[in-house]
Amino acid sequence: METKKPVILSGITPSNKLMIGHYIGAIRNWVALQNEYECFFMVADLHAITVRQNPAELRRHTLDIAAGYIACGIDPEKCVLFIQSHVPEHTQLTWALTCFTGMGEASKMTQYKDKSQKNSESNNVGIFAYPILMAADILVYQADLVPVGDDQKQHLELTRNLAERFNFHYSPTFTVPEPFIPPTGARIMSLQDPMKKMSKSDENEKATLFLDDSDDAIRSKIKRAVTDSGTDIRFDEKNRPGLSNLMTLYHTATGRTFAEIEKEFIGLGYGEFKEAVGEAMVGLMRPIRERFIELRSDPTMLHDLLAKGAFISHITPCTNILC
Ligand code: TRP
Repeated sequence: METKKPVILSGITPSNKLMIGHYIGAIRNWVALQNEYECFFMVADLHAITVRQNPAELRRHTLDIAAGYIACGIDPEKCVLFIQSHVPEHTQLTWALTCFTGMGEASKMTQYKDKSQKNSESNNVGIFAYPILMAADILVYQADLVPVGDDQKQHLELTRNLAERFNFHYSPTFTVPEPFIPPTGARIMSLQDPMKKMSKSDENEKATLFLDDSDDAIRSKIKRAVTDSGTDIRFDEKNRPGLSNLMTLYHTATGRTFAEIEKEFIGLGYGEFKEAVGEAMVGLMRPIRERFIELRSDPTMLHDLLAKGAFISHITPCTNILC
């Protein structure tokens, strides 16, 4: 008898282009899962509009992310790739879940508190309801596992609570999902401020490696990366976060352990090390960029593929929940 594969769902918000942090922290791990799980990977455009977007840019970034998934190794024959707003069941379920979410419960979300305080003028109800839409994304597919970064763990906890509450109140309806913390969940930090996570929305271009950066841009960003005062190459996240971040990048690109890297650079300085990191990153990122450019040059193919994904997603969900 064929046993059903467990379901995975995850997504990225298209608030900018894809960057190396997405690849290392998320997509690379999804690629490793695509054979063993039934995978749904979406572009979370409805989450992006909680912040004002330029429509043309949003459209571009949405397709960029979809193409980026494939360029990074997601196989559209094995996984369902789609755009969140193409599948109306997400917002439909959001409403029901909204009615099960306490005001206090939603107000407690760290990301909501940060975002609403930072920018009170552009604050909106969508920012408040953001985690409930995320819960719907997950529950509508009866996902068993959800790969998420640290910053989204609290939202996943809310998702679990909402599923349990609904199941208790009506009848067992939703699978209660587990977070999936990847075994190699390296956190990539900003190249200009290694105390901050690398972000696709950093106002300083040089802080972030984008997946479509040219070879020279990659080399130059690594060369100009902020490092700590020190001379030898030694992994020490606490005291030398800048150098350690570059070592994490080098480790990802070469597969070498930190001990091996330290050995490789005995007697050499930051300059030589940065040069090696730059070359390693060029080697890692060039094939991804080339595939990305190829995919992006054929929007019809991308649209067809995403339409197919949206159709499969549309017939999968569990939305007959109230009666
Ligand atoms: N909120 C997530 C982020 O910004 C993206 C996202 C939306 C997501 N819906 C999701 C991730 C469902 C996992 C599951 O990173």
